[in-house]
Amino acid sequence: MSLEEFFLPLKINAELTLKNRFVMAPMTRNLTPEAIPDEELVEYFASRARGGVGLIITEPIAVSHPSANKDGFSPDFATEEKIQGWKAVVRAVHIEGAKIFAQIWHMGCDRDATKAPNPEIRSVSPSKSGEDNYATVEEIQEIIDAFGETAKIVKEIGFDGVEIHGAHGYLIDEFLWDKTNYRTDNFGGSIKNRVRFAKEIVEIVRKAVGSDFPIGFRISQWKVQDFSAKLAKNPDELKQIVTPLSEAGVDMFHCSTRRFWENEFEGSPLNLAGWVKMMTGKTTITVGSVGLTSMFTESLLSGKGADITSLSKLESKFRDGEFDLVALGRSLIANPDWVNKVQENNLGDLQSFDAEMLKYLK
Ligand SMILES: Cc1cc2nc3c(=O)[nH]c(=O)nc-3n(C[C@H](O)[C@H](O)[C@H](O)COP(=O)(O)O)c2cc1C
Repeated sequence: MSLEEFFLPLKINAELTLKNRFVMAPMTRNLTPEAIPDEELVEYFASRARGGVGLIITEPIAVSHPSANKDGFSPDFATEEKIQGWKAVVRAVHIEGAKIFAQIWHMGCDRDATKAPNPEIRSVSPSKSGEDNYATVEEIQEIIDAFGETAKIVKEIGFDGVEIHGAHGYLIDEFLWDKTNYRTDNFGGSIKNRVRFAKEIVEIVRKAVGSDFPIGFRISQWKVQDFSAKLAKNPDELKQIVTPLSEAGVDMFHCSTRRFWENEFEGSPLNLAGWVKMMTGKTTITVGSVGLTSMFTESLLSGKGADITSLSKLESKFRDGEFDLVALGRSLIANPDWVNKVQENNLGDLQSFDAEMLKYLK
């Protein structure tokens, strides 16, 4: 098998070219004391860069709104010490020859206010007027502004781009999904209105970082609350979601699926990344059980491991032009040098993933 084409560079925009098509997926690890990046975290990312990935996407970093973060272990840019810690991560990754984006998010209703920083602040969601978590229009604007402010810090730190986490049922996705957004104002009631929050976030981030700084957007059909959820029930609905985001300034869509080889809609072999690429013409990343025998949700929920499997399905979809980049999660936890080994055709040396590996940063 030859995977040579995965090792061709890819130009994202005038400022950024990636050396190959392999990306480290964003993964919450929360293993850094007080969420201050330390030497162990620096080495965790540097070793994946040394191991050959072209692009690293960090674990999610909360935007600068008091209702955004999860707990004391989850990253944000709230102090100078944390900012300096992330600068050290970026420096180390650059020295090893890779690029790095920061994933930024707002937890939405997945946040347990009692355990989070700012416990006096309630968690917010799109919700229904009159419900406890209902985000007022003023709060919505504050959160949109916080995405802009945080993206500006991302750029100042020296990251090569920013990924907005619009997937998996967190705040942006709660706005996108009709099962969590019951609003009757400008932010709900139709696809156009449900996309408005995400679109205004992309617009403000674009304004904050300027025209040359790459913006990624992570999108998923599935939610942490419901694996079979469908944000878009058909291609037309998907187009109504991704087109305004693309026009607002997204350079790259990270299409989160749990099994990359599954077709997204009946009647076409295209996966989510394939559809989004066709609809927007933008760069897409595919992800989900690449080279592994089980899904990551099984690893997180029931501690299941995953064995190594062939990359032939990946190769054939890539040749069909469905996506430009491939993200890897657990493969890179188990094998920091997964990319180098694959390039050397050394697949026999790859380690299986064991859920115990999630307990430490190595
Ligand atoms: C431990 C762990 C934590 C994760 N945390 C996040 C996260 O914070 N943000 C996100 O967008 N995806 C997260 N994911 C999903 C991964 O980005 C990726 O989509 C998933 O692991 C599928 O890739 P894999 O099958 O190669 O592991 C996480 C996955 C794992 C294994």
